[in-house]
Amino acid sequence: MIFTRITGTGSYLPGQPVSNQALIALHALDSSDDWISERTGIRARHIAAVGETSSDLAFHACQRALAAAGRSANDVDLIIVATSTPDYIFPSTAALLQKKLGITNGAPAFDVQAVCSGFIYALSVAEKFIRSGSHRCALIVGSEVFSRIMDWSDRGTCVLFGDGAGAVVLEASNSPGVLATALHADGSHADMLSVPGQICGGQVTGDPFLRMDGQAVFKFAVKVLTEVANEVLHAAGLTVDQLDWLIPHQANVRILQSTAKKLGLPSEKCIVTVDHHGNTSAASIPLALDEAVCQGRVQTGQNLLLEGVGGGFTWGAVLLTF
Ligand code: UT7
Repeated sequence: MIFTRITGTGSYLPGQPVSNQALIALHALDSSDDWISERTGIRARHIAAVGETSSDLAFHACQRALAAAGRSANDVDLIIVATSTPDYIFPSTAALLQKKLGITNGAPAFDVQAVCSGFIYALSVAEKFIRSGSHRCALIVGSEVFSRIMDWSDRGTCVLFGDGAGAVVLEASNSPGVLATALHADGSHADMLSVPGQICGGQVTGDPFLRMDGQAVFKFAVKVLTEVANEVLHAAGLTVDQLDWLIPHQANVRILQSTAKKLGLPSEKCIVTVDHHGNTSAASIPLALDEAVCQGRVQTGQNLLLEGVGGGFTWGAVLLTF
């Protein structure tokens, strides 16, 4: 039987951290450091430089993940990038990343669009490729430049998001690995969180900025993150007390705490990194995972529950032994 294991992690945050105070001053926002940090747990975020794209951030994160896995670029036989802020309409960010990494072996490369659940979607897809025996070494990346789709006059959204990338190398293995995955979507909630713009005839039509009903997203997120965590635990025959770490999408510390509480998981077992990079959408879970690995908190043999929720609405979870 073929199992799948994460063999390396890497992440990248562009430039210097931008504090709440600095962001407020830069965009003349009617807000305060106290409001942002108390309501969201966010203290700083990173903003990509002009011209710096999702494939650029992904490139740095992937180099680190490959080094951690002891793999070279041409060992990779599958590349999946989760992003809602691709470099271009096409080609895919994954194809551009393949070129930047110097992967010349013809490995398939494609993007997954599931907003903040994108990394969970990409990891679940890659896991199925590898378990089928068709591929052995996948590079799974979440990379975003959400600063490009912020309306800097909307204080209800622009203080929440940031730019960054995270990556993992997922390989075929004789021992588990990924224990259970679950993916869901409900398009009837499409309006709750969206960038409802289009490009047509050389013009942007509609609204090219992120729009969100924050309170509705909050309630929906806690509900489905709790449900999908229980779903994968049940599928793998594990109980909450057998979990070493919960690594949720980093949106708002209050969402993370509420989810951990509803699951009956001590809050110390929930990895929180949103304070210093804000909500980086598809990048947030691999960023949080890599940071916890680099700090020595996440260790080989531990049980991790990764889960995300985002626009669509989409949500999902991956339960694995690291
Ligand atoms: O990947 C998923 C992405 N989405 C999310 O994670 C969002 C989930 N939702 C949330 O995190 C929270 O709903 C927010 C942080 C967005 C908002 O927090 P809230 O506690 O739900 O606040 P609220 O929307 O009820 O707004 C309370 C007040 C309002 O003023 P009034 O109407 O009471 O006078 C807002 O206008 O806070 C005001 N407000 C702000 N004040 C200062 C909204 N944004 C800000 C701000 N600074 N940045």
